[in-house]
Amino acid sequence: MLNDPGQDPIVFWEEFYRTKRISSTGRASSALQRIASGLTPGRALDLGASHGDDVIWLAGHGWQARGCDISETAIARARARANALGLENAVQFEQCDLSSAFPQGEFDLITALYLQSPVALARAAILRRAAGQLRPGGHLLVVSHAAPPPWSPQATPSTIFPTIADELVAIGAPTPDLEVMTAEIVTRHGKGPDGAEAMLEDNLVLVRRRPA
Ligand SMILES: C[S@@+](CC[C@H](N)C(=O)[O-])C[C@H]1O[C@@H](n2cnc3c(N)ncnc32)[C@H](O)[C@@H]1O
Repeated sequence: MLNDPGQDPIVFWEEFYRTKRISSTGRASSALQRIASGLTPGRALDLGASHGDDVIWLAGHGWQARGCDISETAIARARARANALGLENAVQFEQCDLSSAFPQGEFDLITALYLQSPVALARAAILRRAAGQLRPGGHLLVVSHAAPPPWSPQATPSTIFPTIADELVAIGAPTPDLEVMTAEIVTRHGKGPDGAEAMLEDNLVLVRRRPA
């Protein structure tokens, strides 16, 4: 069934988490693990945190990590999992619609991992805002699907698959203050709903606010 791009994003994502993605994979993004392992832990914010796997991984590696997502259901599951792991003091999860509100504060690491949607999402404005809330020396990591997976080429026709150039324009980098550390297409192994396997292409962009 095709999605209606005009659907209310809260309704769409609540339905998605109640009926389609009903549990966490328990695995953090390998790109996040690779990049964050080279950084000094500090304050982190994950945009579109889903079930919290990435936030929980960061908290387990010394970060004070915060995650936000439009779906209250996903956020409730993320909180429950962090509590079960004894990480409640290192994480904070909140429901928010990033298209209209952005968490306050400055961060050493902001992540937007597959923050993509077949319904309305002010993605470019969100990425620009994220870049503006980096501390000096802080990093913004954006990973996005560069193309639809072979098992669902028509499933979400309204999802935008950005190029690396699109991502840099959205973020507003490079500038004298924002350095582009990495901007490349990376491949990863993926598995479709019926078990089909394929190599998938992602955009990976890492920018850094210049240290003071
Ligand atoms: C494709 S999923 C990616 C989830 C997760 N970051 C990952 O890597 O698996 C997109 C996520 O963004 C969230 N999202 C979509 N629109 C949003 C919005 N306006 N504000 C906050 N979160 C949003 C969705 O609920 C969903 O969890």
